[in-house]
Amino acid sequence: MNKRRLSESPEPHERPAKRLEIETTGSQPEESSVSSTSLAYPSLHSSTSLRPVPFQQPSSLLTFSYNPQRVMEFTNSALRYYIDPPPGADLRYGYERWIKRPEEKSRLDGLLRAIERIMEKADTSMGPGSGKKWLRDIAVVTWRGVMTKILTAPYEERDGCEFNAMCVNGTIYLEEHLTDARLAEKEDIAPRHRQQTYYGYSFESWCTSSRPGIPEQIDGHPRGWGGDVDTNVQWCSVIKTKLGDNRLVVGGEVDCVRGEYQGRTDKLVELKTSMSIRGPEDEARFEKKLLKFYMQSFLLGVPEIVVGFRTPAGRLTTTQVFKTIEIPRLVRGKPGAWDPQICLSWGQHFLSTLKSVLSSQAASSESASTPRVWRVSLRPRDGVTITPLDADGVKEVQGGEDRVGFLPKWYYDLVSRPLSSSSSPVVTAPESPRRRDDTTLRAQQASHHGWNI
Ligand code: A3P
Ligand code: MG
Repeated sequence: MNKRRLSESPEPHERPAKRLEIETTGSQPEESSVSSTSLAYPSLHSSTSLRPVPFQQPSSLLTFSYNPQRVMEFTNSALRYYIDPPPGADLRYGYERWIKRPEEKSRLDGLLRAIERIMEKADTSMGPGSGKKWLRDIAVVTWRGVMTKILTAPYEERDGCEFNAMCVNGTIYLEEHLTDARLAEKEDIAPRHRQQTYYGYSFESWCTSSRPGIPEQIDGHPRGWGGDVDTNVQWCSVIKTKLGDNRLVVGGEVDCVRGEYQGRTDKLVELKTSMSIRGPEDEARFEKKLLKFYMQSFLLGVPEIVVGFRTPAGRLTTTQVFKTIEIPRLVRGKPGAWDPQICLSWGQHFLSTLKSVLSSQAASSESASTPRVWRVSLRPRDGVTITPLDADGVKEVQGGEDRVGFLPKWYYDLVSRPLSSSSSPVVTAPESPRRRDDTTLRAQQASHHGWNI
């Protein structure tokens, strides 16, 4: 095994006992130039030696909805308005009528449709080719859940996870990798676990209404019940942000808004449930959970999280409102403490390494024009490996569908084509979209203040 130090590795990521290193392992003979890369997680002891990594205030690009038939539409039909839940609400209510969306591979397709639309809008407002130029400046496209798992990985003690990654024209796409076996496992959850999962959705129904400020009153249901749960229905926000020097486009589900929706992220609300806190151990457990609540909301620019505390039997006891940006201060110095700066610094280091690995070996050995597909594995308490997939691995990722790797063929064709002849040729180095009339983008950039933590 041939190990080499990554010269640009930032020192603060090193553990005292286990130095940060990139491992280069030998691979199959026909792919001798392609190697597997390993990254160790940073030390969790202190972030005081870390240079703070800025995270730009996310700005909204667009929103979309999935309707009950699971058809994606560029409307706010699935948007819901926050309303205080009735005291003592029963989170078991409506369980037998829950329409549960089947477990499926978490493809990027919906997000990619949104990106296509954003590019079309840029072309319309700023001239042909503007959309592609905008995309070339984006380092990473993924769902919020993927970014949350990456950023919180240094603190994850139990669950590993895997992603598929591809680099096309300098932009990295990341999807969660779920095997058919894992999907079947997720579908086959124990009744008790299924019931507990439902509590979270039921809380969303009790806390939301179709009109701002007015509790729902649906015939045959108790006052305040927002409607039977159908997990096909989702309202999603796509935002643009920047972590260190990597621009990200991230999409994710948003539970509801407080008051009228003005198209910005400042009214968005995340809803969460948790077991009522009965003692110091529960409190420490809750503080640990707050890292995921925080990061999930932080990434989409959601400023408020409403937590519903419940009994084991699903009775709502209290609700508590958290301002997202204040959460890190609440846990500082406590038994379940964590430090978001460690996560952001790790995220910056991980993304930069991923970018350099993927762009240096972008093409597969079979065809120089087909992008390689990589498997990124997050191993709890240990670190991350980035490994190129062989032909069988790529086939599994494609899943017999019309895809290039995991990207739908229509999208790959759209973004891999060079810019039209009137525009500048495609270059790998990112370039800012600067055109004569790019006022919209510039105005957005000017309004970005740090999303302070
Ligand atoms: P809670 O988070 O209140 O438990 P989200 O809060 O991310 O919008 O998710 C809404 C609900 O979906 C969760 O409510 C939970 O019930 C369910 N859920 C989300 N992720 C889950 C997971 N990984 N496993 C089981 N249930 C999950
Ligand atoms: Mg929620």
